[in-house]
Amino acid sequence: MTDLVAVIIPAGGSGERLGAKIPKALVQLAGRSLIEHAVANMAPIANQLIVAAPSGFEDEFQRILGSEVTVVTGGSTRTQSVKLALAHVRKENDYILVHDAARALASTDLAMRILDSLRAGERAVIPGLAVTDTIKRVDGDNYVTKTPTRSRLRAIQTPQGFTRKLLIKAHSSQDDVTDDAGLVEDRGVEVKVITGEERAFKVTTMSDLVAAERALISEVNSEMRVGIGTDTHAFSSNAARSLWLAGLFWPNEVGVDGHSDGDVAAHAICDALFSAAGLGDLGSNFGTSDPKYAGASGLQLLAECFERVSAAGYVINNVSVQIVGNRPKIGPRRAEAAHVLSMALGAAPVSVSATTTDGLGFTGEGRGISAIATALLLRSAR
Ligand code: CTP
Ligand code: MG
Repeated sequence: MTDLVAVIIPAGGSGERLGAKIPKALVQLAGRSLIEHAVANMAPIANQLIVAAPSGFEDEFQRILGSEVTVVTGGSTRTQSVKLALAHVRKENDYILVHDAARALASTDLAMRILDSLRAGERAVIPGLAVTDTIKRVDGDNYVTKTPTRSRLRAIQTPQGFTRKLLIKAHSSQDDVTDDAGLVEDRGVEVKVITGEERAFKVTTMSDLVAAERALISEVNSEMRVGIGTDTHAFSSNAARSLWLAGLFWPNEVGVDGHSDGDVAAHAICDALFSAAGLGDLGSNFGTSDPKYAGASGLQLLAECFERVSAAGYVINNVSVQIVGNRPKIGPRRAEAAHVLSMALGAAPVSVSATTTDGLGFTGEGRGISAIATALLLRSAR
């Protein structure tokens, strides 16, 4: 046998910059965790698959990845996690690919092209894309020391492929690096760059996660579901009550009566999302009798709603909400409102509009505020 491949997937990071409550590799992307996507894309070429999980999450990883995958405890840095996984690579493998769980969408085809190059005789092969920004090197005080020629620069991705012996030797170094090819270069071994892929980008921030979901959903045969929601609250007779609307506090405005903060825009959006997902409505999800939600802010309910809708496998395409009432004037704070609502929904696009009703009805008479929302959800038709 001359051709066997082990794939190491370091997934031991916490995902600080993403800011989820769980390790980044477990975060859901269109109904499956990042690590499941990464494993599914690499499995077709792998004779052995080794995943480095964050300490304490080994059993959960093993359960979702199945017994074919070797799960090991990751280390305190990416380099450490790779080293720990490397110790489990079986000798029958001639090549090793190291692939970030965070680059969940890198394709099987990319891994195959890396392997083709190794099989053609290269010892170290990495994917890279030409950069569009000019890149400058700066000193510790931020003065430019060098401007490398842009056409000679590449932004490097994973999977990175090596002969097994070379990678093991390279990892005998104690250096901590952001990619494995760096260790190989330090030994004076030639590293070949082949053309990478846009979809192999690294999920680092919330907006990367949204971009990944969109890339994935637009590729597959996706199912679209629209939902609608409305909410109304009366202005309070208590002039001291504060007004929360569209996720914002409105100073010098009288608030509305209600069990919660009475944020009609946030509540209408929750209803629209639940209805699109077929998950009931605000009341059935956050019953007024449940003490957990008494006094919950509109933004808290939105964030919880987002989690439930995401857990059901949906991605938010967009949300639109219209506020109906004489006051407050929404226009000057429209962008701010759209931003905070969007942040509560995993950076999904949210638009906010407002209207009055020509003096007619309870909103026209200034007795209360209403909001009406629509949401469009996507789910891969798997
Ligand atoms: N990684 C790892 N062990 C660590 C740190 C990182 O295996 N101690 C992995 C991550 O899980 C990820 C890859 O290395 O798949 C690239 O790291 P990065 O994208 O920086 O992920 P995190 O370190 O989790 O994110 P952050 O830096 O935002 O905390
Ligand atoms: Mg990191």
